[in-house]
Amino acid sequence: MPDVIVIGAGLVGLGVAYELAKRGVSVTVYDRAEPARAASWAGAGMLAPFSEEMPDAAMLALCRESLAIYPAFVDELRERTGVDARFRRDGTLHVALDGARLAELAAHAQTFRANGGEVAMLDRGDVLAREPMLAKHLAGGLFVANEAQVDNRRLGRALLAACEPLGVRVERVDGVVLECDARRVRGLRTAYGFAAAATVINAAGAWAGELDGVPQHARIPVRPVAGEMLAIAIPPTALHALVWLGHRYLVPRDDGRLLVGATVEDRGFDARVTAAGLHDLLDAALAVAPALASFAVVETWAGLRPGSHDGRPYLGATALGGYVVASGHYRNGILLTPVTARAIADLVVDGRDDVLAPFAPARGGTEPAGAVANHIA
Ligand code: GLY
Repeated sequence: MPDVIVIGAGLVGLGVAYELAKRGVSVTVYDRAEPARAASWAGAGMLAPFSEEMPDAAMLALCRESLAIYPAFVDELRERTGVDARFRRDGTLHVALDGARLAELAAHAQTFRANGGEVAMLDRGDVLAREPMLAKHLAGGLFVANEAQVDNRRLGRALLAACEPLGVRVERVDGVVLECDARRVRGLRTAYGFAAAATVINAAGAWAGELDGVPQHARIPVRPVAGEMLAIAIPPTALHALVWLGHRYLVPRDDGRLLVGATVEDRGFDARVTAAGLHDLLDAALAVAPALASFAVVETWAGLRPGSHDGRPYLGATALGGYVVASGHYRNGILLTPVTARAIADLVVDGRDDVLAPFAPARGGTEPAGAVANHIA
């Protein structure tokens, strides 16, 4: 019998399982699909707490903490498994197509700096010196030096490989049901029978609100928010930084793929790639870098972000004893994987919940707190 069951073998679920197993906990992870897929595979791996929309100071602090521990997390996984998730701190470049937008970026620079971003305003010459592939007529940009990226698909492989020798079992099974009495979880019912566990952690991403058997008072209102993406094959090193134009972004990978993302669509469990989505993404990409027009589109895909009611994830214990939640990370699940894994392991093993109070699953409320709005768009 495992000590802990984790539902969801995405980056968050595998990260939690890995941290628990390192501390000697026996863990089984259940997923209905292949591990490290869904949003963990679909994401762009941007580690951008200053450029992403942050609903409040607690969320900003959590994201900054996770970015701070990311290099050690990736190094440790590489040392254990040989799989390098390719953490790159190449910064983020927000570009302006005209003077009015450049003035807006200059105003955003103040907020970024106040939030801890290492920022610099760039004129057209500076932008093109950094990124010669971008449009020659750009007005300028805002560079955030202390943002990074990770290859999330490689990170999934690394976590999976690191979990195995620690004894973590990853089981593929559909239709799991949480079993509990009036006060506590008892385990999980699956197609193969009943698996008992004193602790069950729901890390099921966009599906975390759908888990059968959870009593009403312990449910979390996670909703899927679709994001469509595509990849263009470009010469490796043709672009260096993450490049943003309003809500859209370009992410250059070491393997020569340039990821272009992402739409944001509240349309339920619908992960189709649509003509309108691709049109929107290519429109932005070609406005920033017209030279991309002659390169091949090599991949299109979509994922479902786990949205929460206020922009913060749901992390920690619920009103049902032994039932713990780690979901609702919305646009920042890859960024928040290391800190979520550590915080949930601290909670389960040591009963410590130092960083978790603002993210309590039962916090209620309906609106974002809105204290440190830094949304660039
Ligand atoms: N983190 C970027 C996105 O969700 O589109």
